[in-house]
This record gives sequence, C-alpha cells and structure tokens, in this order.
Amino acid sequence: METKLFSAAEIHEAGQLLNEGHLVAFPTETVYGLAAIASNDEAVQEVYRVKGRPSDNPLIVHVANKDIAQFVKEVPEEAYVLMDAYWPGPLTLIFNAKEGVFAPTVTVGRSTVSLRMPDQPLALELIEATGFPVVGPSANTSGKPSPTSAAHVMHDFSGKIAGVVDGGATNIGVESTVLDLTDERGPIILRPGAITKEMLEETLGQKVWQGGDISEETNEEMPKAPGMKYTHYAPKQPIILVNGKIEDWVTVIDSLTIQGKKIGLLAADETIEDLSSVKLTNFTLGKKENIEEASQRLYAGLRYFDETDVEVILAEAYPKTGIGTALMNRLEKAATLMYP
Ligand code: TXA
Ligand code: MG
Repeated sequence: METKLFSAAEIHEAGQLLNEGHLVAFPTETVYGLAAIASNDEAVQEVYRVKGRPSDNPLIVHVANKDIAQFVKEVPEEAYVLMDAYWPGPLTLIFNAKEGVFAPTVTVGRSTVSLRMPDQPLALELIEATGFPVVGPSANTSGKPSPTSAAHVMHDFSGKIAGVVDGGATNIGVESTVLDLTDERGPIILRPGAITKEMLEETLGQKVWQGGDISEETNEEMPKAPGMKYTHYAPKQPIILVNGKIEDWVTVIDSLTIQGKKIGLLAADETIEDLSSVKLTNFTLGKKENIEEASQRLYAGLRYFDETDVEVILAEAYPKTGIGTALMNRLEKAATLMYP
C-alpha cells in the first residue's frame, strides 16, 4: 500500500479514505494520532494490528466540538466546566460509555469511554470532513516514542496505512492529560500531560487525584491509565536519567567510557556546553529553563538516537513543575536507571 502524504488542502481526500474504512494519521497539538472512524469496528481492529497494540488498552475518541451528550451515557457538571476551560486542548475526559455508539474495540469491554477535542485546525477539519468522531492513539508502533512529525509517522507506518496529514511539528510534544470523571472518589489523573493537577484543581475548586496516589481514608492506590503499565517511549538503547551537578555527569560518563560504551547525550544546551570537551553524540532539549521546549523535543530526541550507533543515552532530569511533571513521567518510564 502506498502511504499518501496529505497537505492542508487535501483534507477532504483524507476524510474520504477514513470513511472508506482506511487508516489515516493526523497531527494534533500533542503528538500525531492514527485515525479510524470510531464506529467502524473492522477499521478500529486494524489500528490495534498496525500499531501492535495490546488488546486491553482502550483508545481515545477524538471529537470536533463540545456537543458530546450524544456520545456518552451522561455528561457530569464538572465536564462542562472543564470543556469550557480546556477544549479544544490537551485534556482527555473519561465518561461512562453509552452502548452501541462506538465500535466495541474502542473501549475493549470497559464501561467507560474517553473523549478529547484536539487544538489543531487540521485535526478538527479532518473529523468534520468524516462527519463522525475518530479514534486517535498515538501514531507510533507500540512501545516506540510517540511521533511529533509526519516523518516520524512515515518511519513507523509507511506502506501500512493509507495516508498521513502533514501538519508540521506538533506544539506540545507529550500526550494529553487523561482525567477520569467516573470514579466516586473524585477526578483522577490517569496520565499526566500539559494540563496539570494544579490547573484542574483551580478550575474545579476541588481535589484532583493523581494515579498512584494513596487515599488516606481507604488506603487504596488510585488507578493509572491501562496504557501506562506497558513499556513506552523506549528507544533501542538503555537510558540513564541524570539528576545532578556537572560532577555527576562526569562520573557517569567516565565509568561508561571505561566500559567502552558509545554515549548519547539528551540534555539542555547548558549541560551540552559544559560537557563539550568530551566527545559525545548530542541532541539538545533547548535552554534548561524552557521545559515546554524540552517536552516538544523529547520524542524527536529519542527517535534520533534510534538511528545512531549510540549504546547508552544519558538524559537530563527536569523539575516537576508545570509540564515538567508530564515530561518526567515519560522520561522516568523510558529510563532504566537514575543517577545519582
Ligand atoms: O495526546 C493524546 O492523547 C494523543 C493524541 C494523538 O490525541 N493520543 C494518545 O493516545 O496518546 P494513546 O492511545 O497513545 O493513549 C491513550 C491513553 C492510554 O494510556 C489508554 O490506556 C488511556 O489513554 N485510555 C483510553 N481510554 C481509556 C478509558 N476508557 N479508561 C482509562 N484509560 C483510557
Ligand atoms: Mg501512545
């Protein structure tokens, strides 16, 4: 199959392919997604097959507007408040599912369904062109870093899907915040993203749980997204996450050099500059203070090292403030070791 690259002017052609049951990747403000019409079970099954996605990991349905009452069992009051504040945008909301609306494989037997309205004009145009919501898992082979450019999608899926809508590099770079609104204990962040716990608490005026938190009342651990239990975001090499001063970097580099390892450095400009006397393969995440840029560049960096003969990647740790929480969540999941 030839995978066609669509420009903004060709959105309707891409929409038509979707309506014929084919898969088309599309840009969002976070990462590229792999679309199939959310009511077409055969097409949705093909999404799992092409990605190599575990069959117990539900998909996010992408909508073009906030008129969602038709797609879910009920829309709780907080959902209206959150949609007003953050849609279109990187916030996925989980609702109780209404039977018979989406293909069964979208929710893989769960009683809930997740919806998100992406903040990317091409994504919204594409969904409008099809006339029905589309599923949109990240458009990468399962286990590999998410794609933040059309070239990344082509790398994983060229010849395997009908097309890719090219919207250039994505803005945010890490996947949306996934918020469960169906738990009686209150809203729970199942996956951190650009919309932070602090922002959600401020908007809702109530406590928001984070997956992994322990409730003091019941001593139970709050759930995470099913997708978070799988190895993710992993390039082929091991990653050591370095959270320390320049002396710490030098210690790690010395010990790896003695072992004869070829080292890749995924770090801020300042760190790369400080270590410039050592010969390493570098990929910059931008200025240290700019966590947004680091998030935007993270997956491109991991994919870059996949194409090199680097044997181990040293990655820079960032403060867990703002989008730093999401960035560090992905880095910690990708890392095999922390230093010190
Ligand atoms: O930013 C994003 O969300 C991107 C772009 C393309 O929109 N999409 C994305 O999809 O990251 P995916 O499939 O790679 O990740 C979806 C995550 C998984 O961890 C999955 O387990 C969780 O959302 N999820 C989806 N539906 C769920 C549900 N009903 N209950 C709990 N978790 C759900
Ligand atoms: Mg994914």
